[in-house]
Amino acid sequence: MDVIVRRGELAAKPAGLLAVGVMQDAKDAGDAAKRFERATRGAIAAVRDSGDFAGKSGETATLYPRGVKAKRVLLVGLGKSGGEGSRELSLLRFAGTAARRARDAGAGTLAIALPDGAATTPDQVRALAEGAVLGHYRHTAYKRESKAPLTRIELLAPATPGRELIAAAEIGARRAEAVCLARDLANTPGQDLVPEALAARAQEIGKHVGAKVSVLDVEAMERLGMGCVLAVGRGSTHPPRFIVLEAGPEKPAKRGAKVPTVVVIGKGVTFDTGGYSLKPRDGMAKMKYDMSGSAAVLGLFAALPTVALNVRLVGLIPSAENMVSSRAMKPGDVVRALDGTTIEVTNTDAEGRLLLADALGYAKRFQPDVVLDLATLTGAISVALGRAAAGLFTRDDALAKELVAAGEATGERLWRMPLWDDYLVEMKAGETADLVNSSMRAEGAACTAAAFLEHFARGLRWAHLDIASTAWTFETKPESAKGANAFGARLLLRWLEARTRG
Ligand code: BES
Ligand code: MN
Ligand code: ZN
Repeated sequence: MDVIVRRGELAAKPAGLLAVGVMQDAKDAGDAAKRFERATRGAIAAVRDSGDFAGKSGETATLYPRGVKAKRVLLVGLGKSGGEGSRELSLLRFAGTAARRARDAGAGTLAIALPDGAATTPDQVRALAEGAVLGHYRHTAYKRESKAPLTRIELLAPATPGRELIAAAEIGARRAEAVCLARDLANTPGQDLVPEALAARAQEIGKHVGAKVSVLDVEAMERLGMGCVLAVGRGSTHPPRFIVLEAGPEKPAKRGAKVPTVVVIGKGVTFDTGGYSLKPRDGMAKMKYDMSGSAAVLGLFAALPTVALNVRLVGLIPSAENMVSSRAMKPGDVVRALDGTTIEVTNTDAEGRLLLADALGYAKRFQPDVVLDLATLTGAISVALGRAAAGLFTRDDALAKELVAAGEATGERLWRMPLWDDYLVEMKAGETADLVNSSMRAEGAACTAAAFLEHFARGLRWAHLDIASTAWTFETKPESAKGANAFGARLLLRWLEARTRG
């Protein structure tokens, strides 16, 4: 999808849909709203007077005013200035709403007026372009009938835009496309995205962005002793894979300056039946998105050409299909992790933490400065937080602060959860092995899962994001359609950018 900024008069712009952002404050509705108001002699005031539209954040009204070349005009509320969230996030959502509406209406072409006109910054243009592409996204690979997508989105500026704004639109669009690629992966049915296919996609992405990708097969994992990934994948005819992506910094750092190494791990369960501890039938169909953590990691790598990061970035994706068969792991089986820890599998449905145990062990080879993992790890995180935030587990206050800030900026909210020794005690309560993979108690299951992971993250600066609560969109949002949404990809990018800027 191309998103371009160009000079254009609002009333004279022929478009299937023209989107105009309107602040809630009638006296100061914003530059674009004022221009539109002048051109239409008070169309916005008339709608405000009707009581149907006040400019509240996310509110919309469709107009068909005379004297305007566009076929329809969508007013989108931008809320009050200084309202919740950043201006950029509000613009991203505005553009997302506009693009979704234009697509649903079959508008063909969309023009979005820059709300702040000549005062618009490159960051704002980037947010608008990003939001437009995200809002326009739909998973259509399996649909015979669907409305024709837009082919181009124009951002209308009151004056000829400079080079910076033009570049910002391009970057925003490319970045959002990386996220959409991740969404497509997570929305792909388990039948078509098995671990080998995920590895092939990772290789394609690596080739595209200049990252090195290596894939460990069963034999390689046996040699290394990745007993956990092997155990989870054993029940499937589609063997497990361990995917390693590596990208260096754009340009080598100043002599003597050490480039930090960041490892991001993504859970890559391409389908989770639960195994012998079988999941109930309701909701199992959604378990194709149990590789959402890995989708976020791949989305991050796909977006690398849009940033200059001064880090060595390593992505690790342990990938398996959790199935039932005569070869599958059984409750009571004992597996040995890469670091030598023995684990009694008390619940085959607690497979994600097994995969992550080996990945955390593997991460140590890179002597990382920071390790993050993203995983749709527990249903319990939704019990704790609903759908409003993902769970953030780390003992490192500074790292927590960075990650929370990144999430606030991108609208991917994180909420800090505890990592207390009490939880690990539950995971050590088994008689047979060093750890059990599932506590006897269902209460606090997101926390006991995190404590289990912490055992394997010993000595690392580490944070765990349980994204099971947020990686699926149930009700359409400005920036994401129903379905898998690649939660975390933009957050990771923002976090890394902030670290690079220092
Ligand atoms: N993939 C699931 C977690 C999940 C549940 C993600 C719902 C998204 C929506 C994970 O592998 C799992 O099954 N976890 C178990 C852990 C339990 C056995 C301790 C769970 O949450 O029930
Ligand atoms: Mn499971
Ligand atoms: Zn799972």
